[in-house]
Amino acid sequence: MPAPVTVTVTGAAGQIGYALLFRIASGQMLGPDTPVALRLLEIPQAVKAAEGTAMELADCAFPLLDSVNIYDDATAAFDGVNVALLVGARPRGAGMERSDLLEANGGIFKPQGEAINAGAADDVRVLVVGNPANTNALIAKSHAPDVPADRFTAMTRLDHNRAVSQLASKAGVPVSQVSRLTIWGNHSATQYPDVFHAMVGGRAATDVVDEAWLGGEFIPTVAKRGAAIIDARGASSAASAANAAIDHVHDWVHGTPGGSWTSAGVVSDGSYGVPQGLVSSFPVVSANGSWQIVQDLEIGEFSRSRIDASVAELVSEREAVQSLGLV
Ligand code: NAI
Repeated sequence: MPAPVTVTVTGAAGQIGYALLFRIASGQMLGPDTPVALRLLEIPQAVKAAEGTAMELADCAFPLLDSVNIYDDATAAFDGVNVALLVGARPRGAGMERSDLLEANGGIFKPQGEAINAGAADDVRVLVVGNPANTNALIAKSHAPDVPADRFTAMTRLDHNRAVSQLASKAGVPVSQVSRLTIWGNHSATQYPDVFHAMVGGRAATDVVDEAWLGGEFIPTVAKRGAAIIDARGASSAASAANAAIDHVHDWVHGTPGGSWTSAGVVSDGSYGVPQGLVSSFPVVSANGSWQIVQDLEIGEFSRSRIDASVAELVSEREAVQSLGLV
């Protein structure tokens, strides 16, 4: 057996944490040959609940689970980390302005970025799940100047998977028949699920599915799916969010299948007119352990205006955290 990979999960006692940890420990994220040393980071009030989860992890007797340790201190939790899943975040409370939300999250993601900078392993990969995910990733990255910027990513894979599922269902095909969908921009209601390059069973999605549905119902259905889940379940998406985090890291480490791509929030290199340095969702492939933005896709007028609107929101979030001194 190789040496264990150290995986730190923040917000480990939360609902996504509960859906995520068992799948990591069973090998679904890093593969059946990779032992995992789990680190659970929580706020002090939630450490006891994290201890309960650690007891259940032990009770599963996962052959790949090397160890479980619990922390309430970011510096210790990220020391030597290989994969950091930043799930814990401050939700928007009643009467909270956007700047309050960004400031509260800055208080979490700035010290976590600093801790990753101070102690992470050279190959560290960071996935930010906690919302506002793209801007939280930007904050963490800004405080980790010694870590290559392309190691910081934000999760839009849940949006991607939702879009794949909606399109497959509309076309009456299994999800495995859908490829080349893209989520652009922010993980928010402004995100743009783009089907103009998507394929359904070897044919262009636009030839298979009614264009009025694609341009109309499809986009809000994907963008508002999180709210629909809350409405139905009385709680936000947890198992599907955990699943998306597993998919994201799995594909980052093991590569995306040939002939298609996925979506991830990555640091923009200026591709597709997205300002450099923003953490924005793009079509991406992974090979040799790093993401590459898929280049040279034709972007029509409809797509351009949607991408621009979501990127404008990211720019305004960046300006807000700049004015708070967080980046
Ligand atoms: P939750 O409220 O059940 O759990 C959050 C956990 O984070 C709590 O246990 C809390 O104690 C912990 N926490 C808070 N501050 C912390 C800190 N500084 N260090 C370590 N832990 C800390 O929330 P849930 O449902 O697990 O969601 C977590 C986040 O994921 C939320 O921000 C949510 O909006 C976001 N999310 C993102 C999605 C995406 O697609 N990017 C999808 C679904 C949720």
